[in-house]
Amino acid sequence: MLETSSTRRKFLRQTSIAGAGLLAPLAVAQQKPADADKAKGDEGISPAEDLMREHGVLNRILLIYDEHLRMLADKRPFDGSVLVSAADIVRHFVEEYHEKLEEEFLFPRFRKAGKLVGLVDTLQAQHKAGRDLTAKIRELAAVATLKYVSSDSDKLADALRAFLHMYRPHEAREDTVLFPAFRSIVSPHEYDALGDDFEKKEDQLFGDEGFFKVVDQVAQLEKKLGIYELAQFTPK
Ligand SMILES: [Fe+2]
Ligand SMILES: [Fe+2]
Repeated sequence: MLETSSTRRKFLRQTSIAGAGLLAPLAVAQQKPADADKAKGDEGISPAEDLMREHGVLNRILLIYDEHLRMLADKRPFDGSVLVSAADIVRHFVEEYHEKLEEEFLFPRFRKAGKLVGLVDTLQAQHKAGRDLTAKIRELAAVATLKYVSSDSDKLADALRAFLHMYRPHEAREDTVLFPAFRSIVSPHEYDALGDDFEKKEDQLFGDEGFFKVVDQVAQLEKKLGIYELAQFTPK
């Protein structure tokens, strides 16, 4: 079964090359050399692992938002372009890709199975609320470059806080309740095939191994903010 999945993934990867880049909103669609698979491996990850590591990207964006909230509270001037870039990653990677996967592949199956329907309704409503907040954050970050005593700064802080307040429980509930339950409502074959579909979509939108390119973009933003070095968070 693994060999079949792997072969199919490679085929999908090759056929998606022509389309890769057309929709790449983050300029992450450059193709890597053919032998790069050897370095990263042909992943063959499950839908849940795929979605959960995307939550890891979202969590790192939330840390970037946290840092901006601290700068706003301290009235420290900052370069709004980092926040604009972070909001753009939320828009293109989280909202237009990750949440679309949940909405197209997971939510309808739960509704059809009559399972966790209330939870799914809430998650879907939160996706919509998240998109509204991202639009607000992006707009305010673009104009609020450093007018730290202004009503815009208060509005920006409110929007960042509301985003953090909603997304931490949102993704924690998906990780601990929705994704574990997903396995029980689809057949093993369908579960495996969905893993392939998710990878195909990721390749189409962000280029081959696009996940790692997005992680790298987030790391660059963390470096600009001085929150990249992990050891700084270890208690002294
Ligand atoms: Fe979600
Ligand atoms: Fe999610």
